[in-house]
Amino acid sequence: MTNKLVYFIGNWKMFGDFTSIKIINKVNILSSKIKKKHKNHKIVLCVPNILIHYFSKFKTNKNITLGAQNCHHYDEGPFTGAVSASMIKKSGAKYIIIGHSENRSDGDSSKKIKMKIKLAIKKKLNIIFCIGETLLEKRNKKTFSVIRKQIRESLDKKIGIKKIIIAYEPVWCIGTGNTPNKTELLKTFDFIKKELKKFFNTSLNPTLLYGGSVNSKNIGLFSSLSLINGFLIGGASQSSNKFIDIIKNYYK
Ligand code: PGA
Repeated sequence: MTNKLVYFIGNWKMFGDFTSIKIINKVNILSSKIKKKHKNHKIVLCVPNILIHYFSKFKTNKNITLGAQNCHHYDEGPFTGAVSASMIKKSGAKYIIIGHSENRSDGDSSKKIKMKIKLAIKKKLNIIFCIGETLLEKRNKKTFSVIRKQIRESLDKKIGIKKIIIAYEPVWCIGTGNTPNKTELLKTFDFIKKELKKFFNTSLNPTLLYGGSVNSKNIGLFSSLSLINGFLIGGASQSSNKFIDIIKNYYK
């Protein structure tokens, strides 16, 4: 077992309320046991905006860092119902997911995503930038060209490779129970890595996560791939037991 830092990032999506602090408390307790043996992992829970500040007041949950799931592409203005990167930062979040396919299909263009990333970096939020192809794009052998376009259109070369975490989430795997096979994963992660190094013109390696139907049963497949630095976990992060079982089985 290497000693590399591994991220376990939960994406609660539209789930949870104030009573869900129970889940956070339990994840904290169970993960502190795992921490004794496997120090080098980081747990981030990206929860709905209205819960961030409330959860952040429970200072004893030391193992858990909070994050948000999206922000508006402007930092202020007449945008009814919108939440800015500044507001998210002030509420206590340290991370933010940007470019999730569920938001892309809801109107998030590469241009908007680029603006969001810029604002979030300015506010010193850690970015989790999501990329990935749809089933149709995969069938048409467009995976690499789609990923390349997402990277080139949404990132700014000036950001630098260390300011951004990339989450490869094939759209056909999100919430479906499907996952790519090992060969596909190796090929795609290798492509993403090379593409990012070329884009940022650096020899430094990017931080790469996998997301899409990660659970305690399939985590073993991913743990053997050294190119992967962590996971973006949706449905299974809404249950403390399921989430913790993923971490436990990763280290098995
Ligand atoms: P899933 O979601 O784990 O439920 O497939 C992942 C995500 O949307 O980030």
